[in-house]
Amino acid sequence: MGDAGLFLTCLLCLVKKGISSKGWSMHVPSEVTGEVGKTITLPCTFTHPHNTFDKTLTAIWRVKEPYNGTVVFKCVTHSSSDLCKTTVSMKNRYKLLGNPRQNNLSLQIDSLAWNDSNRYFCRVEFSGDVHDKYESRMGIRLHLIAPPRIVNISVQTGEDHAFRATCTAEGEPLPTLTWAGPQSSNITSVSSAAHRITKELQRLVHDGKYTCTAMNSLGTAEGTVYFYKFKAGGGSWLLVLLLVALGIKLLALVVILGVGACWKGDNFMVANSLSRQPTQESPYENLTRRINSISQSLQERI
Ligand SMILES: *[C@@H]1O[C@H](CO)[C@@H](O)[C@H](O)[C@H]1NC(C)=O
Ligand SMILES: *[C@@H]1O[C@H](CO)[C@@H](O)[C@H](O)[C@H]1NC(C)=O
Ligand SMILES: *[C@@H]1O[C@H](CO)[C@@H](O)[C@H](O)[C@H]1NC(C)=O
Ligand SMILES: *[C@@H]1O[C@H](CO)[C@@H](O)[C@H](O)[C@H]1NC(C)=O
Ligand SMILES: *[C@@H]1O[C@H](CO)[C@@H](O)[C@H](O)[C@H]1NC(C)=O
Repeated sequence: MGDAGLFLTCLLCLVKKGISSKGWSMHVPSEVTGEVGKTITLPCTFTHPHNTFDKTLTAIWRVKEPYNGTVVFKCVTHSSSDLCKTTVSMKNRYKLLGNPRQNNLSLQIDSLAWNDSNRYFCRVEFSGDVHDKYESRMGIRLHLIAPPRIVNISVQTGEDHAFRATCTAEGEPLPTLTWAGPQSSNITSVSSAAHRITKELQRLVHDGKYTCTAMNSLGTAEGTVYFYKFKAGGGSWLLVLLLVALGIKLLALVVILGVGACWKGDNFMVANSLSRQPTQESPYENLTRRINSISQSLQERI
């Protein structure tokens, strides 16, 4: 008897749960691609089962996991004439672009950083005479891309007193690095992790200019280091390393990005493809950036 009762109650609560989410749906793309440093919009629209709703509405965005992930954005509106007042916006970087009264919770994120790569979930809550809420389970994966950037370029001595030039760059897709310089120093080693890659040019022998070029499908970046060693008088060798990283030229190539976003809802298909637009040379940016300007002097006695 008791078991049957429990079973019935469970069945009832299951049915109730089914009914309460009936008429609700959320439409989000499964993935959105953004560029590091830029702004991105995460689209989210919903439908609800209530004929009209003009009481308190709360819009929420979480990261990482549905239902209990960290809330990065929240806003509340009390009537249809009321703007959605932001109550949570982590580091002030999140802004609601959509109008929640028009079933649109689209969120804008400013100045994308590598660690914004995550899954995002939108949620809407009704309160007032109707209490109801709904959250997207699937979430939107934010994929980040970036043209190459030289993070560090330097020359060091190893334990064997041999000189080597090191170049570290970041970008997504992972850039390829090439060293160019005076001949006969062509022994290299490469290591990479996540969106960073380092290439060493070992056993530098010749003085001169060494250039590191990082390249991926979004562009090219260049860093230069000058390597000189010379003899000073007085019976001792004064070894001077002059390192200048200058004129890191960033050639931003045309970015042709076909962001095909498949909406979760059946009826939405957004294919935002720019690939048919005429290809243009984009401006040649010269980030005369001194990444690393070191003068290092080493004294060695004979
Ligand atoms: C969030 O939910 C997941 C799965 O339900 C669970 O494993 C996790 O411990 C929860 N985290 C918190 C902070 O409650
Ligand atoms: C939702 O709002 C965003 C931002 O205003 C807009 O770009 C988008 O077209 C809207 N979506 C729908 C389905 O109206
Ligand atoms: C993400 O990276 C930015 C800058 O790179 C930093 O300011 C911020 O604290 C980081 N956030 C987290 C959660 O690690
Ligand atoms: C650049 O790399 C060198 C050698 O790895 C390191 O000593 C130096 O601190 C780095 N500079 C920066 C700005 O990261
Ligand atoms: C390195 O340079 C030497 C001499 O310049 C050349 O003979 C050799 O083929 C080069 N090796 C590679 C892998 O490029």
